[in-house]
Amino acid sequence: MKHTITFLPDNITATVDKGENLLNAAAQAGVYIHAYCGGDGICGKCKVVVNKGEVRSDKANLKQEDWDKGYRLACLSTVESDLEITVPEMTSKSGKALKRKPRTTRTISAKAQDSLIGSWEIEPPVSKLYLKLNPPSLDDNISDMDRVMRGIRQAFPDHVGEPSYDHPELIKYLPAVLRESDWKITLLLLRRNQGGFRIIDVEAGDTTAKLYGLAVDIGTTTCSGVLVDLNNGEILAESSGYNGQISCGEDVISRIVYANRPGGQKALQDKVVGTINTIIEDICRELIISPADIAYMMAAGNTIMSHLLLGLDPKYLRESPYVPGVSRFPLTKAAELGIHAHPSMRLFLYPCIASYVGGDIVAGVHACQMAKSDKVSLFIDIGTNGEIVVGNQDWMVCAACSAGPAFEGGGIRYGMRASSGAIENFQIHPETFDPMIVTIGHIKPSGICGSGLISIVAELLENGVIDQQGKFRQNLDTPRIRQGADGWEYVLAWARDSLIGEDIVITEVDLDNLMRAKGAMYAGYQTLLESVGLSFADLDRVIMAGNFGAYIDLERAVCIGLLPDVDRENFYYIGNASMLGCQISLSDVNRFQERLAVRQLMTNMELSENPEFMQHYMAALFLPHTDMSLFPTVQEKLKGIS
Ligand code: FES
Repeated sequence: MKHTITFLPDNITATVDKGENLLNAAAQAGVYIHAYCGGDGICGKCKVVVNKGEVRSDKANLKQEDWDKGYRLACLSTVESDLEITVPEMTSKSGKALKRKPRTTRTISAKAQDSLIGSWEIEPPVSKLYLKLNPPSLDDNISDMDRVMRGIRQAFPDHVGEPSYDHPELIKYLPAVLRESDWKITLLLLRRNQGGFRIIDVEAGDTTAKLYGLAVDIGTTTCSGVLVDLNNGEILAESSGYNGQISCGEDVISRIVYANRPGGQKALQDKVVGTINTIIEDICRELIISPADIAYMMAAGNTIMSHLLLGLDPKYLRESPYVPGVSRFPLTKAAELGIHAHPSMRLFLYPCIASYVGGDIVAGVHACQMAKSDKVSLFIDIGTNGEIVVGNQDWMVCAACSAGPAFEGGGIRYGMRASSGAIENFQIHPETFDPMIVTIGHIKPSGICGSGLISIVAELLENGVIDQQGKFRQNLDTPRIRQGADGWEYVLAWARDSLIGEDIVITEVDLDNLMRAKGAMYAGYQTLLESVGLSFADLDRVIMAGNFGAYIDLERAVCIGLLPDVDRENFYYIGNASMLGCQISLSDVNRFQERLAVRQLMTNMELSENPEFMQHYMAALFLPHTDMSLFPTVQEKLKGIS
């Protein structure tokens, strides 16, 4: 159930789910409330007055007299009805009320899912066929296999192409299965591209009710699996876990280096196979099914992950001119890689484009149907490597830019992954420069995650705490700006309010690293667009993929120059697009077959040695950009900030 909250005195309204935390609601609405301890209920700063409506609240350290006056700690309150909340007046040093700045936050709407991805049929490439065959006789004495083939032809009289089989083990056990099941069998069939079916397996009796497919997203950090009932398309279970290769290096380059050690490549293959097996075990345990019931697996990963899974040497992927050993991966039997599944289970891997534009991006582009639309789209997946695709149904160019790990907490002094204690939302008092900090899990802060970093930098910029070069204004009257070990810094949380018992700061070195990361992304968009004679004005859609997009604040990401300053209605977010592509391909043979055409349409552009890219990159090392005409809404926002 949804409830409306009106925040006074600024009359800002927000609609939130019942049970939403009040501090979160304020942060998402762009309403500043003092909050120093991340929402842990310790600092006692986030007091608000509940004028109308009902909240469920914990008194914690709040004084009785404040409680009696109707004060509540926003971070310890949840929304139970429509509310009218007064946030205590922000006062200036002269005692006058301060005008709050207009709302500057906005999430990317999830409208995309249906409009971009469309619908798909439940007609999987792998299917089951139950046959009741006539036993052989002296008058009908064709071989067992021919009898099965005849059964398939009779079941699909209009189907073009002869059935076949390619599994020599099959003929060893087929005669026994036929007789022991009284000639009632279920065939596992794979549709061939050129028409007809290939027999993958034969089972005794009617097992058609058990037909499962596994979609797997093989990430450098995390692997996820989704089990789909291929009879009806229903998602039955999901599981995920860290990629076991993490112990051999955090990023793809360190994995390639590890693979070069004696036995390294095999160790990496074993580790990712082990991760997939754990996912399969978790899912099978939850559903009480056997891994052998999984008939088909569709996976996508970046090029390095795909090579390592198949046991291919990734060595040359990091050497100029950065070409992969193979881009269309062979159809593989998963069991031959050590994956615990049906011995005949086929593993399909999405094809890749280049060393750093992999099958995960092809799967994402496939999922959102860019290749079937006349609209010009910019597809962005932000991670350590930012991948970018621009195009439509007639052409597509793509590139990877080495954004660096800033958005995953790397290279940031108090950077961390998006886990409990990470600052994920941030606002600043425009005159005292005190922070409003919201952490994941509402505990004292222990660091800054990627989305928090974007919020922090945008707020510091909009409030004049830093300039457009990412340097602190040293003349501001606040003890939070000070000189530290890495130069000038801003104290986000004093030691007493932090979980780690020390001041949490953001430094000029951090700001520099962030500017490099966002500058590489923006320069990538510009270089690709210009390569096809287009500009940002020609874009019909900007599609964000990847988990990072779920938490990104659109206005703030534009404010720092990470995303282009185009009509906000043109932004879409589709989540884990790679996984979506796998799920769609599992379920719909027509969409499955399109994936190769999508790959064919995509042309890679190597940016690392591209002079235009370098020029754009240098120009983007500014907040948001040296060319402010590219960011008209930010220019407007920053007017008057000296
Ligand atoms: S007590 Fe609510 S943010 Fe600290």
